[in-house]
Amino acid sequence: MWGGRFAEGPSAIMREINASIPFDKALWREDIAGSRAHVAMLAKQGIVSDADAQAIDAGLQQIAEEYERDGVPEDWDLEDIHMTVESRLTEIVGPAAGRLHTARSRNDQVATDFRLWVRSACERANHLLGLLMVALVERAGEHADSVMPGFTHLQTAQPVTLGHHLLAYFEMFDRDRDRFADAHRRAGECPLGCAALAGTGFDIDREMTSKQLGFIQPSRNSLDAVSDRDFALDYLQAATTCAIHLSRLAEEMILWASQPFGFIKLPDALSTGSSIMPQKKNPDAAELVRGHAGRIIGYATSLAVTMKGLPLAYSKDMQDDKPPVFEAAQLLDLCLAAIEGMVAKSSFDTARMRKAAEAGHATATDLADWLVRQADIPFREAHHITGAAVKLADQKGVALDGLTIEDYRDIDERIGEGVFDVLSVDASVAARTSYGGTAPVRVREQVAEARKRLGMEN
Ligand code: ARG
Repeated sequence: MWGGRFAEGPSAIMREINASIPFDKALWREDIAGSRAHVAMLAKQGIVSDADAQAIDAGLQQIAEEYERDGVPEDWDLEDIHMTVESRLTEIVGPAAGRLHTARSRNDQVATDFRLWVRSACERANHLLGLLMVALVERAGEHADSVMPGFTHLQTAQPVTLGHHLLAYFEMFDRDRDRFADAHRRAGECPLGCAALAGTGFDIDREMTSKQLGFIQPSRNSLDAVSDRDFALDYLQAATTCAIHLSRLAEEMILWASQPFGFIKLPDALSTGSSIMPQKKNPDAAELVRGHAGRIIGYATSLAVTMKGLPLAYSKDMQDDKPPVFEAAQLLDLCLAAIEGMVAKSSFDTARMRKAAEAGHATATDLADWLVRQADIPFREAHHITGAAVKLADQKGVALDGLTIEDYRDIDERIGEGVFDVLSVDASVAARTSYGGTAPVRVREQVAEARKRLGMEN
């Protein structure tokens, strides 16, 4: 492609270190779409004749059919997807193919292709997140009043409802969708026509190509447009936060599926057995989601470090922008689908969850609140009295509602029979009716609200 200036060809090592075709062939659809938009614009502007443009466009369509059918050939001499397509186009169309590269460079070309790819990755994430959120809201509706222990420090804290717990993840994934939508919008500027770095002297129409490729508008600064990879970092950072959420949910499922918890039975289809211990069913998919999250975070870091020292405009380091994004996207899509399957198909052992909520004196706060409300005792003192009740219950090996009224009277004579109304886990969750609280009535409202946000029927 640049033989005019060179006395000898590249060494084998140069060819190998230079080649991006092994991974950037994933951009073939975007590359052909970009070239078709570009040549249509060149023809409209009278820069290329209609006849040449038509031949080039037909050639590009033929290449798309070939790649769809047979895959993209990998010839290191051709370096990347852009040269691979152009070389095939030359075989099909002849020397007129050489007119396609008028008023553009591989620098704006790759920036355009990659933006298109990242924009569809954002759309995919949005779609998969939507499916996961539907699964969460369905399960939350089924379990609006299933009681389970709520934890802080992984110690039993207060009873909560399973529906409430699942909707916590709904909120996280809703924010993730917002981040992907934001990344999608910001990736909406089209670099095509910025050429190598400085723009071009040809009378091109950048509005036209931008529109045809589904972008919002042409990028405003050619130096920025060819050297900017913020859109890829935005995607990876949104993927990082999303992967963190997926990993936390995976971790809870692993915990809940363990024998001491026994809260959940993961679907067989998303579990594995052990080659030596016949009784085992392992939560491998959940563990791999937790593991893959680490890799996704690593890919975000990798691209950030690649970019941080680069002067304007394009440097070849930027060729390394694609593997982290491609690999992170593949892992993220897989993790989203796996977690969706686990949420949709797991069965919850609500009896066991209730039992766990009843152990560990999870309603101690309700006792303290009752003392404040019914006996007008300052909260700090109520906390102290409740501590004495917990101690006595532990000594007798019973729950707080297993103590007798005499036990309570011995601790503090201001305690009356009415206290037993608040000591059950159902009473405890039912009482937490503040906005955003765990009470079944509030959870049902939030389920309805969540369904509305997803555009589902109520
Ligand atoms: N393969 C290159 C990349 O992925 C394409 C751009 C090459 N531009 C250049 N001036 N060498 O970044």
